[in-house]
Amino acid sequence: MTNRKPRVLATRHFPPDVEARLSANFDAVLNPDDRLFEGPALAKASDGCDAIMCAAGDPLNAETIARLSGSIRMIATFSVGYEHVDVAAAAKRKIAVSNTPDVLTDATADIAMLCLLGAARRAHEGTTMLRTHHWVGWSPTQLMGVHVTGKRLGILGMGRIGQAMADRARAFRMTIHYTNRSRLPPELEKGALFHPDADAMLPHCDFLSINAPLTPATRKWVNAERIARLPKGAVVINTARGGVVDDDALIAALKGGHLAAAGLDVFDGEPRIHPGYYGLENAFLLPHMGSATVETRNAMGFKALDNLEAFLLRGQSPPDLVRVSS
Ligand code: DGY
Repeated sequence: MTNRKPRVLATRHFPPDVEARLSANFDAVLNPDDRLFEGPALAKASDGCDAIMCAAGDPLNAETIARLSGSIRMIATFSVGYEHVDVAAAAKRKIAVSNTPDVLTDATADIAMLCLLGAARRAHEGTTMLRTHHWVGWSPTQLMGVHVTGKRLGILGMGRIGQAMADRARAFRMTIHYTNRSRLPPELEKGALFHPDADAMLPHCDFLSINAPLTPATRKWVNAERIARLPKGAVVINTARGGVVDDDALIAALKGGHLAAAGLDVFDGEPRIHPGYYGLENAFLLPHMGSATVETRNAMGFKALDNLEAFLLRGQSPPDLVRVSS
């Protein structure tokens, strides 16, 4: 009987403390250059491994999963979102999948608020004006944006991150509207107004924050018809997944003036984002950095490791097992 440590492929270069624990407890196959794997290369690299520690954007679709070697027993994603992993295909091959809920709630809600404020208050135009030496001084009509305090915020998806966004918005005395699969209990709702019909919420949103996962039901949910239901001058914020937005429709509304601005941290097909965004002055854009704090990225890594250790070292079910959705 050998005492070999389970071998785990890290598809990305993870934070140093996370890789140190990964290497201490497993036979870790690291990716110090942070090379991006295509599906076939990822499947090949996982040969002889027991598990894969992956991240958002890794192509663990049905095709890649079908090519993984028979030794793979688990996929632990370093993310709360898991739309990049075909959980049903993994289940068919008896591969367990885990994610990292809870630990990135605050960091992501902070970035959502940054996107809201940055979009409303024209932060991109202001910083560009200053850094390109075009600021000629204070002026009464310069860079007038959308007032935030006291406005109405609609939240699509009132899970942990949606609720944390609502908490932040309450400090700006915003009225919170939300739509969700089910109504929250009063202690979590905290006076927010529930809309069982998501479309009916839209006319009440001066700001719309997308905090829902990408699923077949939410793909391109923010489309031209729904944008038209938002009041003129509304602001759209997306820190969930780019695929929830129809980019052509959003860009048209930002150009046409129906929307005042958008604050986006996530993009469909990122990092190859829709080219229409680059020239839009009223789009405040960030490169998917919702969870990018040292504390949060360490916590995500440690959570992924908690799951790997439970399953591979102790034979337990991973605490954050992702189940196949019914
Ligand atoms: C996640 O965990 O799903 C995030 O998008 C990565 O920051």
